[in-house]
Amino acid sequence: MDKETSGKPFLSDVKTLRERARHHIGRGALTSTYGGDPKKTIEILQSVLATEIVCVLRYTMHSIAATGISSEAVRAEFAQHAKEEQAHMMSVAERIDQLGGKPDFNPEGLATRSASEYAEGENLVDMIKENLIAERIAVDHYRELIRYFADEDPTTRVMLEGILSVEEEHATDMHDLLVAHEGKPPLED
Ligand SMILES: [Fe+2]
Ligand SMILES: [Fe+2]
Repeated sequence: MDKETSGKPFLSDVKTLRERARHHIGRGALTSTYGGDPKKTIEILQSVLATEIVCVLRYTMHSIAATGISSEAVRAEFAQHAKEEQAHMMSVAERIDQLGGKPDFNPEGLATRSASEYAEGENLVDMIKENLIAERIAVDHYRELIRYFADEDPTTRVMLEGILSVEEEHATDMHDLLVAHEGKPPLED
């Protein structure tokens, strides 16, 4: 049965796989079956990288600047999130490198490249709200990207799926904190 009759994707035989791997070895992990456009993927990931860096900066700043009643627990939560955002930042930067790109850590233009914003927040509740908003932006953005990459680039997709599940936890944590501090479900409209 060929591809048309079986309806299944084509599988290369071992000999072909071995021969292909010997060509263009300078491209590293980027082989001929890469289904996406590496340039476009790198461009998208630079924006994801900027988003994660901005999240590291915002949570780090909040973890230090938060004051007021019961701020200790909130500060600890912010600090934990900052650490997790940093892990995301590293994964994305490493993926850009694997694809042959150079991760853009240039502070110039960082806020523009990022999907989420660097918002300081006036007080503890404001900070929690700003973080919740940033997480909701990340969740929306990453969900779209996961659909976009689909089977074209499963490695990038799986990485983003892992990050997305942590961002959803972050959003839930921020929502819980907001309810704890405001005593009612917030942002209901
Ligand atoms: Fe993140
Ligand atoms: Fe997050």
